[in-house]
Parts: sequence; structure tokens; C-alpha cells
Amino acid sequence: MTELTTQTTASLGAIAAATTLDMLEEQRLAALGKKGWISLALKTLGQMSADERKDAAPAIQAARAEVAAALDARKAELEGAALAEQLARETLDLTLPAPFAAQGSIHPVSQVMDELAEIFADLGFSVATGPEIEDDWHNFTALNMDETHPARAMHDTFYFPDKTGEGREVLLRTHTSPVQIRAMQEHGAPIRIIAPGRVYRSDSDATHTPMFHQIEGLVIDKDIHLGHLKWTLETFLKAFFEREDIVLRLRPSYFPFTEPSVEIDVGYAMEGGRRIVGGSGDEPGHAWMEVLGSGMVNRRVIAAAGLDPDQWQGFAFGTGVDRLAQLKYGMDDLRAFFDGDVRWLRHYGFSAYDQPTLSAGVGARA
Ligand code: PHE
Repeated sequence: MTELTTQTTASLGAIAAATTLDMLEEQRLAALGKKGWISLALKTLGQMSADERKDAAPAIQAARAEVAAALDARKAELEGAALAEQLARETLDLTLPAPFAAQGSIHPVSQVMDELAEIFADLGFSVATGPEIEDDWHNFTALNMDETHPARAMHDTFYFPDKTGEGREVLLRTHTSPVQIRAMQEHGAPIRIIAPGRVYRSDSDATHTPMFHQIEGLVIDKDIHLGHLKWTLETFLKAFFEREDIVLRLRPSYFPFTEPSVEIDVGYAMEGGRRIVGGSGDEPGHAWMEVLGSGMVNRRVIAAAGLDPDQWQGFAFGTGVDRLAQLKYGMDDLRAFFDGDVRWLRHYGFSAYDQPTLSAGVGARA
């Protein structure tokens, strides 16, 4: 019995003296481990007589409980002290900025639409929108393409099976031009809007996707003429491509909703396998490329939108946003635009922190 008391006292002393968790673990093994003195003492019970055991067993169990409790208590003390010491040592500066860990990127199409909105806002244009699910009156008829007009067939239209309540065909808009009609109906004249958005045509190869993006422009006012159109598009293209040497060629064309109609070409040269816009297409090593459709808004369109064409006139233009993005930022396969491949987006996407501003040049920095 005295030996048990001595050993218990020694253990309790050593436990109290332990200053690290390692030292404490040593004491646990020395007492409660397989070869620890308490485990050995428990083994001696087997050789005792029933009488001896009646006294010895509770004494050993009591010693065991006392040592185990002392170990737990000391462990809690040491852990508490370690935590307090760590808290005192490690400080967190709450004035530090958030770590820079930008995730995701701005798609080139969104980037270019932001750039276009910035450029045209500076010229006094506001952004108008219209539905992607349109009716054939807004998409065609009001734009001077009645049911029999051959231009309808050229649009490869996706039609819905049901008609509107008024018996009109329902379709996915094939261009942003119906927003011209909706904007004039809603706001009247004078008006100066751009309308960027998705359009749909049943067409798919390396340069055509069934869904793509256009931007429409419309100016209706008094005494507007082709000179205003030319100046506006020249100013726009110079700001967009961020070069002064953009040369435009206006080529007579045909759109049912404009009269006269002009297609706009810009001069470019091939550099490193890419088309670089700039200079006249007639210079050596240069060529012309079509970038916009445009013209003076047809009287019939102004009338269809509910305005008096003798009082109001103006110009409209339209172009592909995806193509503008390809030209400016050099991506050749249009289909990759809409694959949603994060590797492509990481490579061609833009930082969300890089807002297009005219003062800094609208383009995104690499
Ligand atoms: N809507 C025409 C197209 O999709 C482009 C255009 C718009 C032409 C406005 C002239 C005026 O091709």
C-alpha cells in the first residue's frame, strides 16, 4: 500500500512539474501506458487472494483515477497556456487590404459592349433594349419588309410554333433593328440611342454562330444628313480602335429600312497573321473590309414607328459586336466565344477592375 502511495505522489508531482505536452505524455505513459506502473499494479491483482484483492483493487483504481484526472487537468492548463501564448504572439492587422485574388474575367463581348456604350455615351447616345423573342411586325414588317419581301428569306429566321394574340409570327430577332421601332414608339423624337444585344440566325460555321451579338445605332432629329452619319461612325471607329488613322470608305448598298443605304469599309493591313485596322485600303499592302451597315432611315420606317417622316429624319447603323471584338483583340474562331471554356476565358478575358473610360482610352490593357 505504501508503495502505491509513494508512486501516486511521485506521479502527481511529476505531472504538476511537466511544462510541455511532451513531458506530460511521458508521465502518462509511465503511469497508464502498457508498461506503466498502474497497469503493472493492476496485473498483480491476479496473483492475490480474494481478501487481499478486496482492499488492493479499489486502492489501485483510486490511484488510477487520481492520476488520470491530474493528467487531464494539467493537459488543459498547458493547452490553454499555449493558446494564450500563440494569441499574444500572432497579431492580425485589421487595416490590411483584402488579398488580391481576382476570380473570373470579363468576356471579350461584354468588354466590347462596355467600350461601345462608353464611346456612344460621350456622343450623347443612351442605351436602349428590346426583347430577343420578337414578333415579325417589329423584326420585319415595320422595317419595310412585308410578308413577301425577299430579304426575309435571307435572315434564316428561327420561328416559334405559336403566333401572338394578334396573329403575328413569333421569332427570335434576327437583328437589333427592331429596337429602332420600339425606341421610336416609346420615346418619340428627337432620339439618339444604341441598342446592343443578342440576335439569332439559323447558321453555324467558323464565322457564324446561331446566336451572336449586334449593336444598333439610331439618330432621329431634324435636318440630319449623311454627313452626320459619316462623322459619327468615323469618330466611333477612331475611339474604338484607338487610332487616328482610320480611313472609311462609304459604299452604296441596300437595306430595306434605310434609303440611301451605305456599307462602311475600313482600310487594314495584315500584320503577324492578324488584320490591323488603319490606313486607306488603297495603300500598298492594304485592303478594305466591311465593318458596318448603315443609311438614312427609310421614311416608311419612321412612319411605321408613328412619327411624321416629313418632320423627322435620321440615320441608323448596325454591326456585329463579336466581329468587332475579334478585330480589336485578335481571336480567329468565333465558335470559341460561346464554348464557355475557362482556359479561353482566362486567356482572352479582361479584368473586372479595368473599366473602359474615354480618358484612359477605352481599350483594355493586357
Ligand atoms: N440590321 C442590319 C443587319 O443585320 C444592319 C443595319 C442596321 C443596316 C441599321 C443598316 C442600318 O445586317
